[in-house]
Amino acid sequence: MPIAAIIVAAGRGERAGGGLPKQLQRLGGRAVIEWSVEAFHLHAQIDQIVLVVPPGEQETYLALTGERAKVIPGGDTRTGSVKAGLNACDLSDNDLVMIHDAARPGLSQQIIADLIGAMDAADAAAPALPVSDALKRKKDHALSDVSREALYRVQTPQVFEFDTIRNALSTSNNLVDDLAAIETANGSVALIQGSEYLAKITYPEDFKRLETLLMTMSGAPRFGTGYDVHAFAPGDAVTLCGVVIPHDQALAGHSDADVAWHALTDAILGAAALGDIGDHFPPSDPQWKGTASHVFLEHAVNAAAAAGWALSSCDLTLICEAPKVQPHRDSMRAETARVTGLPLDAVSVKATTTEGLGFTGRGEGIAAQASAVLTPLPSNL
Ligand code: CTP
Ligand code: MG
Repeated sequence: MPIAAIIVAAGRGERAGGGLPKQLQRLGGRAVIEWSVEAFHLHAQIDQIVLVVPPGEQETYLALTGERAKVIPGGDTRTGSVKAGLNACDLSDNDLVMIHDAARPGLSQQIIADLIGAMDAADAAAPALPVSDALKRKKDHALSDVSREALYRVQTPQVFEFDTIRNALSTSNNLVDDLAAIETANGSVALIQGSEYLAKITYPEDFKRLETLLMTMSGAPRFGTGYDVHAFAPGDAVTLCGVVIPHDQALAGHSDADVAWHALTDAILGAAALGDIGDHFPPSDPQWKGTASHVFLEHAVNAAAAAGWALSSCDLTLICEAPKVQPHRDSMRAETARVTGLPLDAVSVKATTTEGLGFTGRGEGIAAQASAVLTPLPSNL
């Protein structure tokens, strides 16, 4: 039986601030929205993902989701966006549909499985947590107790039969969530054990809290280092971090000899324990001759992702007397950020000389050192 997942991400995230809408901001090495897309994508029973985004912004989101999701424009209200999502699903009446807030990145495979299981005995199911703090009602200056008994904090995803939710929403326009429509229709709702990891990002301080939670949920980060050297050869420019820098020599090498990106490629492969650049691109293989090094770097980022790891930061050190790296540092950082998909503030490029000592000091070549931090993707949750 096909099961669809609708992720609503068409809100403006006004309360969360920060320039970009919250679903596009970075959290643990990736955009908030990518966490949920990946969690649904990984689940064997989910066979279609519909991502509902601000009208006119589809391209931005498609660049993040690729083939994994159908990206469609949303409405003025959350309910409007859910309706747009339902219209874009390819389902029959009794098929199941999960509706999820993009603003809740901590979705696990367990929650998805528990929700599907709960639909055997109910018209709808949702994750929920009992209220544990004392509850008070404030009137003027007086407080009174509110019983916590039978009170729950309800989260998403919420799951429904397709025709049930479509009919229930047909006359509604601005509901707090989709269960509200089922409640009005007197349907039965199963609550499964929710999770603090599923908390919604609403205010600026929620990003840090959730990032810390997700990192502990998914395990410790991994760290890798890389080192590379290329000798100078006759020529008039060197390529460092994809940036062509005029110089009175070039770097010798099988590819474009981008010593910096070679070191970084090794750092990423190293952090994921995936061997080294020579294993993936043997220098003896003529097909890699003259290859631009962004190919190696992109490959390392993708190989790490396939093994369950997201690159979350990197630091590069160039070791040479000349050319001067400083004037090109910003473009080198920007190029590295572009190719790896990292935000600029997670990419560091530094340079040093060796005070005239050793092969770099004698101007025989350039050495580069790199480190990379990988954080677990939701497949590791
Ligand atoms: N949402 C949506 N379409 C809307 C409004 C909200 O798809 N017209 C989505 C949001 O993107 C979010 C979820 O509904 O994933 C929950 O809404 P909320 O937390 O209120 O997000 P925003 O509306 O984006 O935030 P704010 O209210 O602070 O502007
Ligand atoms: Mg809102």
